[in-house]
Amino acid sequence: MARALDGVRILDFTHVQSGPTCTQLLAWFGADVIKVERAGHGDITREQLRDIPDVDSLYFTMLNHNKRSITLDTKNKTGKAVLEKLIGYCDVLVENFAPGALDRMGFTWERIQQLNPKMIVASVKGFGPGPYEDCKVYENVAQCAGGAASTTGFDDGPPLVTGAQIGDSGTGLHLALGIVCALYQRKTTGRGQRVLAAMQDGVLNLCRVKLRDQQRLARNKVMKEYPQYPKGKFGSAVPRAGNASGGGQPGWIIKCKGWETDPNAYLYFITQAPVWKEICNVIGKPEWITDHDYATPHARLPRLMEIFAAVEHWTMTKTKFEAMEEFNKHDIPCGPILSMEELAAEPSLRASGTIVEVEHPTRGKYLSVGNPIKLSDSPTEVTRSPLLGEHTDEVLAELGLGADEIAALRAEKVI
Ligand code: COA
Repeated sequence: MARALDGVRILDFTHVQSGPTCTQLLAWFGADVIKVERAGHGDITREQLRDIPDVDSLYFTMLNHNKRSITLDTKNKTGKAVLEKLIGYCDVLVENFAPGALDRMGFTWERIQQLNPKMIVASVKGFGPGPYEDCKVYENVAQCAGGAASTTGFDDGPPLVTGAQIGDSGTGLHLALGIVCALYQRKTTGRGQRVLAAMQDGVLNLCRVKLRDQQRLARNKVMKEYPQYPKGKFGSAVPRAGNASGGGQPGWIIKCKGWETDPNAYLYFITQAPVWKEICNVIGKPEWITDHDYATPHARLPRLMEIFAAVEHWTMTKTKFEAMEEFNKHDIPCGPILSMEELAAEPSLRASGTIVEVEHPTRGKYLSVGNPIKLSDSPTEVTRSPLLGEHTDEVLAELGLGADEIAALRAEKVI
């Protein structure tokens, strides 16, 4: 079956996580992604956090599926000439080098436009224009600079980063959308354009509800669904809200049977207003249905912790799955805290292709997260990441280089 991005060719200059996430998504939708790596080394993640000596790490393999790899020294004069050909051959150049690296290589936006006016140049940077635009940035720096860390954690603890890679993978997602939009706009303008996704901006976008709360706090001095209410204090900035829900229906993480020994025997529970009656019946508090102190969402706000404690009293007699089953019989929203071990074994995620088993020539079988976005007319088949330089000869031949020229580049250590 044809795929959404068939015919789109990506010159993939990305490394580490943010950029590779973006180009991997484009590859899953059918784009031909040609990853350019330094001869002899390749993407630094090939050798980071290795679990098997001398084998491409899971860090690399899980972020570079469905791509081709070529090696090329793009600082060398002959290498630059090959890169010029690649720029003419491809539709989109994606990069996440430190600020200025592409310019230092001699490939400014103006130069790229001369070589291929239709080319889209897409970049991840740590920060957009401003005081920090020249800084290198990694995931947790972005989480801290984008507002996630100051609003994550408990009130009495330090700022916390989250395990979800919202700075890297989140920004990769943003960039992928920008690229697809630029490809669409090119259909009418005939021109390429620059696409920038800054990690700070991407994290802030994902923390949109916290900027909402900043303005609510400035106006009202208090936020009644936050755990600081009614007994704690609010300052001038949005505080860390523990496990409180980010939306209008209060929620919290509560213990389930086995919590003493199983660190994940917990459930996220939401006191959704439309099912308050059902909640009261399930947890054995039918009197709360009509009691003025509990009957309305507004009346419940100062008593949320007491309510969560009562729900927990009930859930501690059930496993998280039993509790979920019972609550869902009554349409009460909740979710089990699932470990990576449980997710890896979950049959429905395997069946939907969200968790896939991939065969790799040097590491054997490994698990990966497949394409989380499902298109009915563009199915994703996850194929393994390329070995370093696996497609160098193939791609150079497509560019019109003969076997002698390729051999000369190899002798010169350009590829
Ligand atoms: N041939 C020759 N040189 C190459 C090359 C190739 N194929 N590919 C990369 N290089 C060079 C670059 O031109 C650069 O050289 P320069 O510093 O002399 O200009 C050099 O390799 C290193 O690139 P850089 O991006 O600075 O790598 P780094 O390891 O020092 O920094 C990051 C890594 C991630 C901190 C940095 O790239 C960054 O801030 N990127 C933007 C934000 C981002 O994406 N961060 C998240 C990463 S998950």
